[in-house]
Amino acid sequence: MEKQVYILGIESSCDDTSASVTCNAKVLSNVVANQEIHAKYGGVVPELASRAHQQNIVPVVQQAIAQANISKEQLCAIAFTRGPGLMGSLLVGTSFAKSLALGLKVPLIDVNHMQAHILSHFIEEKTHKTPPFPFICLTISGGHTQIVKVTNHFKMEVLGETIDDAVGEAFDKSAKILGLPYPGGPLIDKYAQLGNPKAFAFTKPKVGDLDFSFSGLKTGILYFIQKQIKINPNFIKENLNDICASIQYTIVEILMDKLKNAVKQTGIKQIAIAGGVSANSEIRNRLHLAEKHFGWTTYIPKFEYTTDNAAMIAITGYLKFLTNNYSDVSITAKARLKVTENS
Ligand code: KG4
Ligand code: ZN
Repeated sequence: MEKQVYILGIESSCDDTSASVTCNAKVLSNVVANQEIHAKYGGVVPELASRAHQQNIVPVVQQAIAQANISKEQLCAIAFTRGPGLMGSLLVGTSFAKSLALGLKVPLIDVNHMQAHILSHFIEEKTHKTPPFPFICLTISGGHTQIVKVTNHFKMEVLGETIDDAVGEAFDKSAKILGLPYPGGPLIDKYAQLGNPKAFAFTKPKVGDLDFSFSGLKTGILYFIQKQIKINPNFIKENLNDICASIQYTIVEILMDKLKNAVKQTGIKQIAIAGGVSANSEIRNRLHLAEKHFGWTTYIPKFEYTTDNAAMIAITGYLKFLTNNYSDVSITAKARLKVTENS
């Protein structure tokens, strides 16, 4: 019988406290505590995030172990997010993981959050196929927008990235202009389903090669809305669905254009997406269509593995465990960490 490797993953890079237990490549539990407190501030407040992580981490880890139906003594290693992220938030997960690994006398494994988003594709699921190497991954989240060539689990190359805002920020800032609460991305997606994507035209940015830019689009949307409100103060209310559909259409067009360029340049037609924004229904639809129209094979993560979660940390920990790639207890959290950086 195959050896059963139980890994506990801990994620605390931003505003979600999460813990997960995996057995080999299968997820046994994936507990996520969202921090509601930030909504009223219109964005994540770092100090409040660290305080909430402190409160959540023990119950979240306990729940993850209980749901997995194992005892903590069965854990083979503790994997944690080393970075990138908010330093105060990262410190909570890092310190907790170190203490637990020392207490249980099991290896400690540091995980790069950006790699973990991509490696969530290696979670074994009935309905999900794992991408073969090499593949292209479009990582789209609240903090990052990158096109990455993945040659093997830990060999990644950034082909292009945003020069200003991340795509998640483009969604969230547009939502804020429309008076929607934070994070607005999922709400834009929801209203867009009922709207006409061609109702309003927004200019797509002109940036070179495989890079992205979203700050100009945000300003364009702001000016457009301000102008329309002067004419009709109820413009947003009366056209919310169409505005959201048009914004979403423009953003997804930008992403698809760049992906097409990446395929042209590399000849790789295995396309994966990862990160919070890959929950977006329009990008998912467009990728399905690309299979038919361009002969791509696309890999779309299960919904719960798109936004920040510890299952992706645990699976990455498992992949590192297989090569005895452990961390020393002297390892420190790193707020800035590139997807290409292995420790
Ligand atoms: O990966 P993630 O959970 O956190 C970061 O590491 O940044 O991504 C969060 C981002 C937020 O900007 C949120 O608005 C966006 O993902 N998001 C969406 C959708 N669901 C989450 N954006 C568009 N459509 C969605 N359905
Ligand atoms: Zn993330």
